[in-house]
Amino acid sequence: MTLDLSLGDRSDTDRLGAAMARALPESVAGWIVLLQGELGSGKSTLARAMLRTLGHTGTVPSPTYTLVEPYQLSKKTIYHVDLYRIVNPEDLDFLGWSDMEDGLRLIEWPERVPDLAGQADVLVELRYAGNGRAAELTGLTDRGRKYCARVTPL
Ligand SMILES: Nc1ncnc2c1ncn2[C@@H]1O[C@H](COP(=O)(O)OP(=O)(O)O)[C@@H](O)[C@H]1O
Ligand SMILES: [Mg+2]
Repeated sequence: MTLDLSLGDRSDTDRLGAAMARALPESVAGWIVLLQGELGSGKSTLARAMLRTLGHTGTVPSPTYTLVEPYQLSKKTIYHVDLYRIVNPEDLDFLGWSDMEDGLRLIEWPERVPDLAGQADVLVELRYAGNGRAAELTGLTDRGRKYCARVTPL
């Protein structure tokens, strides 16, 4: 299923992130959520809102240079990943990709690794829409589809 949302301003993106966090299951081990969209479309804003809703109180630095920012939260482990600088899909191994299976991998610039779509649970596509943004959520697995049905943000 696909969920189409209009995000008129930044607070709507924050609300979607909060709703996405609340809709997560108790255990997120092995979950992969792709955040796709051009520069400035709101991928990091969405990730930040999710992390805050899950209880993270500090800053949420961009993983552009570190590639992975891990968050050990009270109930969940989240890996915020940015693949912008990945050139070869094999580079994922150097990131410790398989060591991240104990948590939720939240991936910006997933299109750098085309095979990822076949592994992911949820695809979030963000785009510019007037002064705001629009988001499309698509469940790619059974559990991803059930998850999307639980996301009711605005
Ligand atoms: N729904 C929205 N409407 C207008 N501006 C938004 C919306 N959501 C986020 N923004 C703004 O757009 C920018 C998005 O930046 P960022 O989240 O870093 O994008 P990305 O990670 O996709 O490059 C921020 O300045 C943010 O405040
Ligand atoms: Mg970003």
